[in-house]
Amino acid sequence: MTSHHPAAVIILAAGQGTRMKSSIPKVLHRIGGRSLLGHAMYAARQASPQHLAVVVRHERERVAAHVAELDQSAIVADQDEVPGTGRACECGLAALPDGLTGTVLVTMGDVPLLAGETLRELTRVHEERGSAVTLLSAVVDDAGSYGRVVRDADGELAEIMEFKDAVRRREAGDPDYSHVVDIREFNAGIYAFDVEVLRRALEQVGQANEQGEKYLTDVIKIAREEGRAVVAHPVTDLMQTEGVNDKVQLAALGKELNRRVVEQHMRDGVIVVDPATTWVDADVSIGQDTVVRPGTQILGATTIGAEATIGPDTTVSDCEIGDGASVVRTQAEHALIGPRATVGPFSYLRPGTVLGEGGKIGGFVETKNADIGPGAKVPHLTYCGDATIGEGANIGAGTIFANYDGVAKHHTTVGRHSFVGSDSVLVAPVEIADGAYVAAGSTIEGRVEPGQIGVARARQRNVDGWVARRRAGTRTAEAAQAAQEASTGDDGGEGIPESANVPDDTTTQES
Ligand code: UD1
Ligand code: CA
Repeated sequence: MTSHHPAAVIILAAGQGTRMKSSIPKVLHRIGGRSLLGHAMYAARQASPQHLAVVVRHERERVAAHVAELDQSAIVADQDEVPGTGRACECGLAALPDGLTGTVLVTMGDVPLLAGETLRELTRVHEERGSAVTLLSAVVDDAGSYGRVVRDADGELAEIMEFKDAVRRREAGDPDYSHVVDIREFNAGIYAFDVEVLRRALEQVGQANEQGEKYLTDVIKIAREEGRAVVAHPVTDLMQTEGVNDKVQLAALGKELNRRVVEQHMRDGVIVVDPATTWVDADVSIGQDTVVRPGTQILGATTIGAEATIGPDTTVSDCEIGDGASVVRTQAEHALIGPRATVGPFSYLRPGTVLGEGGKIGGFVETKNADIGPGAKVPHLTYCGDATIGEGANIGAGTIFANYDGVAKHHTTVGRHSFVGSDSVLVAPVEIADGAYVAAGSTIEGRVEPGQIGVARARQRNVDGWVARRRAGTRTAEAAQAAQEASTGDDGGEGIPESANVPDDTTTQES
């Protein structure tokens, strides 16, 4: 089978989109992690055209910048003040190299579900039949304000008549056109053209219609009058031709896109417990037998390995998650979670978090710019920012990496297999060497060398007889007295004990 690659795709995106009621240009609104225009450009690229042009006018600078950001080699074509899809197309052609021959596809920037596969099929059908124009059409109960597909007595495509023009013809009592308003077959606005026919026909198209616009659809009648084959090719998957005009349609198409994306992942071997509450962006990849639990959003350019568990109630965005990892009730962005690592519940991973293989970030832990080594654990109630934590290290409950002095951020290093006792503050910049300890409750400001324990807290002193003197008559005093009587001998003495209270084992919580 020969492959059919169009000479160019022209995406029309110059329209205003006033019904969006938004300060954001319509085609920049997003569903499934891409802008509407991003979806259109993605589909266009899948048809492997030599050139891709996007026609812009409304909010020109923002839309053009977005095009450049998505695709360096896409051509931005400016539409002038002449309105209409025909003029937009003409401006697109003018931005393409001279002397282009073959097929040009025309699509729209606000039709996000159109698949690249459909454009490939359109190109193939068009080129195999040697047509001058092939457009996608569909039959519905009520074609609304779409352009109507007018067929001749033999059922061949004769022309496209815009709804408003069909209404006017009927009101004028034109017998040849009085039925057009009721035609149920509509023009989806997605076309393949022979570029030479298109160029020539557009020169002849005027603006004498209800909207005063230069209609692209007028090309069909002209091409047919020239004796060229024009074809309406039916699409069955209507959602692929749906445009976004307001925020209700934006949500509806976003939901439908998500349904399709999630279904494809399931067909590829992902276990999705509840597709209805699972949101997966279009560019996400997920490995086989990974389980996605309810209430989970997997966003941006996230990649997830095989046999991982994500969710419930988790949002990961632009993350890389390894095989067999578990991420539960977590919010994570721009984080790298190694194979078989565990995260959550109730963890917040901010950009620059790297968790090594088999490592752990546990409940109520927030991390940022933190490189946590393989097998290292930050299990409970910790803020860990601007840190490097070595392999197998353990960070006790409630540890704070104090990285900000009010002016600048500083780095903390905890070495391999080191152990930070609970409720410690590591005041950056500071380094705990490999194989070192920090005593619980310490505020560490200076380096702790290998093999040392750093202790930085007030010594404990016990004051004998305090309860009896200061809380006489309370239940506490009674309990103290009973305990003292029960113990053999009376070793109580007044004063402060001599021994320092450096622990032989730190009171770090084990997980
Ligand atoms: C057009 C078709 C109509 C078809 C419908 C499908 C024409 C004359 N009519 O309707 O038969 O049923 O699409 O949705 O082509 N645009 C420009 N510049 C312009 C005007 C529009 O770039 O001057 C772009 C818009 O941004 C949009 C697309 O063209 O992406 C379609 O414009 P829109 O006004 O929605 O379509 P209609 O002209 O109403
Ligand atoms: Ca219009």
